[in-house]
Amino acid sequence: MRAVLIQEPGGPEVLRAGEVPDPAPSPGEILVRVRATALNRADLLQRQGLYPPPPGVDPRIPGLEFAGSVEAAGPAVTEFQPGQRVMGLLPGAGYAERVVTPERLALPIPDRLSFQEAAGIPEVFLTAFDALHLQGGLGPGQTLLLHGAGSGVGTAALQLCRLTGATSIGTSRSRAKLDRCVELGLDHAVLTERGDFQETVLDLTAGRGVDLILDMVGAAYLEQNLSCLAPRGQLILIGLLGGPSAPIDLSRILKRSLRIRGTVLRPRPVEEKIRLNQEFRRRILPFFETGDLKPIIDREFPLEKAAEAHAFMESNGNFGKIVLTC
Ligand SMILES: NC(=O)c1ccc[n+]([C@@H]2O[C@H](COP(=O)([O-])OP(=O)(O)OC[C@H]3O[C@@H](n4cnc5c(N)ncnc54)[C@H](OP(=O)(O)O)[C@@H]3O)[C@@H](O)[C@H]2O)c1
Repeated sequence: MRAVLIQEPGGPEVLRAGEVPDPAPSPGEILVRVRATALNRADLLQRQGLYPPPPGVDPRIPGLEFAGSVEAAGPAVTEFQPGQRVMGLLPGAGYAERVVTPERLALPIPDRLSFQEAAGIPEVFLTAFDALHLQGGLGPGQTLLLHGAGSGVGTAALQLCRLTGATSIGTSRSRAKLDRCVELGLDHAVLTERGDFQETVLDLTAGRGVDLILDMVGAAYLEQNLSCLAPRGQLILIGLLGGPSAPIDLSRILKRSLRIRGTVLRPRPVEEKIRLNQEFRRRILPFFETGDLKPIIDREFPLEKAAEAHAFMESNGNFGKIVLTC
């Protein structure tokens, strides 16, 4: 089958299409003919040799999600049959014509969505659901501060926040992205061209601060994030785009009973991912069927043009997801 391979660690140009053997489903797994996959920041890190996949996954092929149709089912598969449209998370090797996955990690694609749209759901919506709801306990009447609001994860999180009945404050360094976030339901848009947001967030919350912060920037925003948290507030870290190290005055955490936690999806044990997947299917997937939630797709590239797609993501130009069609 065709797949996109990392020839050696490096820039986007090291991604080339090539031939690899088809994967075969084990008991409990399905073989999926992939019609679309999507980019994630982790793919860029893997391409640079900085984020290897878990053991057992081909490290040469990036790709953390898929949408396609079931081509074959291994023994012990009970739900999905050949021909059914499915999407889901992968630990890697998604930039390929075929993937295998445990059937319990797959989700049925809602009828109203195309394969391209479906490919934009698993990684960002599962991440946002897990961070905001399962870990962050976001509830009606609370306030969320969301950095990179126009990112893939951001466009998912702001829609989930709207559905929850919580207030969202979103940041971006781009006015155009913020305008589109407001169209999607963002309550307050904060332009962070010069990296400052603390004063505006405190003004918007009458000096109280927010209950929850979803942050992918890390070190560069840590100081201001701590100032923006209300007493007992929580900072959930999902990325380090602004660096990994920053000094921290622990008395600020102690005195106001703050919490800081990090979370990653990919290295989790399969059983844990399956539990998350089932919870997502029960609580969130129905909103895609009704159209209350929608994947936000910036643009599509053919699988063979994965290098161009990576360069585009590195330019921070995308609003929502970048999809590879196959
Ligand atoms: N922990 C997990 O399990 C998990 C799962 C999925 C994704 N993630 C992480 O979540 C983050 C977003 O992923 P994504 O796929 O949604 O990415 P994306 O669509 O490429 O968006 C990332 C956005 O981050 C902002 N950004 C980049 N560098 C920045 C910097 N130095 N300072 C401030 N803002 C910066 C940019 O927004 P503006 O240009 O609009 O400011 C950019 O558009 C990534 O760090 C990714 O690794 C984590």
